Amino acid sequence: MKRPGPLPEAGTKTMSTEATNDRAVLTIGGKTYELPVKIGTEGEMAIDITSLRSTTGAITLDDGYGNTGSCESAITFIDGDQGILRYRGYPIEQLAEQSTFVESSYLLIFGELPTGPQLAEFRRLLCEHEFIHEDMRHQFEGFPPNAHPMAILSAMINALGAYEPDLLEPEDDSRFIDAAARLMSKIRTVAAASYKKSLGQPMIYPRYDLQYVPNFLHMMFSKPNHPHQPLPEVVSALRQILILHADHEQNCSTSTVRMVGSSQANLYASVASGVCALWGPLHGGANQAVIDMLDQIIASGETPEAFIARVKDRNSKIRLMGFGHRVYKNYDPRAKILKVACDRMLNKLGIHDRMLDVAMKLEEVALKDSYFIDRKLYPNVDFYSGIIMKAIGIPTDMFPVMFAIGRLPGWIAHWREAHLQPSQKIHRPRQLYIGARMRDYQPIDRRR
Ligand code: CMC
Repeated sequence: MKRPGPLPEAGTKTMSTEATNDRAVLTIGGKTYELPVKIGTEGEMAIDITSLRSTTGAITLDDGYGNTGSCESAITFIDGDQGILRYRGYPIEQLAEQSTFVESSYLLIFGELPTGPQLAEFRRLLCEHEFIHEDMRHQFEGFPPNAHPMAILSAMINALGAYEPDLLEPEDDSRFIDAAARLMSKIRTVAAASYKKSLGQPMIYPRYDLQYVPNFLHMMFSKPNHPHQPLPEVVSALRQILILHADHEQNCSTSTVRMVGSSQANLYASVASGVCALWGPLHGGANQAVIDMLDQIIASGETPEAFIARVKDRNSKIRLMGFGHRVYKNYDPRAKILKVACDRMLNKLGIHDRMLDVAMKLEEVALKDSYFIDRKLYPNVDFYSGIIMKAIGIPTDMFPVMFAIGRLPGWIAHWREAHLQPSQKIHRPRQLYIGARMRDYQPIDRRR
């Protein structure tokens, strides 16, 4: 099939690790084994254990995968100690300030910033595919009015695959580009429709003349008798939120997409499973949890100092939501950008939000406290994003959906990268079995 325009060879960039003479030496049961050491392009070191089990009989144990590289990837670089995040080599600060969400998505998926014609063609594809099949509109009626929009989103992304069976296995580039553009375009339409469903309002059709972010805001907030005109500051803040969420290497949802995709499950099914993984409060649900936490503090009149004291109490099991990160042991660079964006947008809109005051006070108290200092706990991307989205008028249960719209290009890029690797294997971790030893089956009348 012919490619629909001046688009690149999707994901054909090769990646390489540097060969090194270093060897990791391992001694088990008096025998010594040497394991190759690989170095990434930013000097990170990895011990290659792919032959560990076949040569030694042992496996590694790494609950939570904090020390395990599950793949080699050329998409995103994070240095958690320094607070660095780059997409395809470009610093997140530059992209957040100068790029658009569509352009950054293109960069993540295809590996390079687009030329003018490439970007125009990608935008055309996004516009062309912004409608969902009319029959799909009826599927929204099958959900109860109080259904969580993440449940609707994951189900609808899977359903999209059913409406586009020819794109389930986009094995050539033109099909892949089509599938990527369709998913990116339609996820907005589905997300906004799930919000309209929860309000009992009619679904709003997308508009060809609007760019990605204003088009989404139009579908969310316009009514058939009243068009919505978002302020440029609102569009800009939401654009930044989406760019900052667009990829974060092997996080829980992206690893899920790669894991599901490794069984050669199709792009739609893999992405739908990523939405489910993102839903949890420790991942994409944290932005909602931050607002709930701030709401509770304000409603109860508790001081930020008293709340922090409760967080530190081991028996309380309360966490300071929006703080801490598995990878960042420094200020999350995304939080730094959003703190400024939040302040700027609220000022422009003339909103004085008590939540922002409380959040900033919590941050101030936490960053001086040895509990947080010792554990290297800093604000993460979710600490300020919720305040911005709330000010825009996005309801809290839609926050993880916004995260999903932002993260979609990353999921697509990783699915593609994994599919293009010649050595692609089904992901199948091992375990250390700690259950009962072999025992004989007992008929029910002999069991005690
Ligand atoms: N508040 C209070 N204590 C915390 C927090 C927090 N937010 N985060 C970690 N700790 C403590 C934790 O109790 C533990 O203390 P100790 O060593 O005394 O037992 C220590 O710090 C290490 O915590 P951990 O749970 O082992 O760290 P992790 O790397 O497994 O967890 C995390 C990372 C993000 C799940 C965790 O920091 C957390 O639950 N944060 C709050 C939820 C949140 O904001 N999530 C959004 C993450 S960013 C968006 C995304 O990428 O999804």
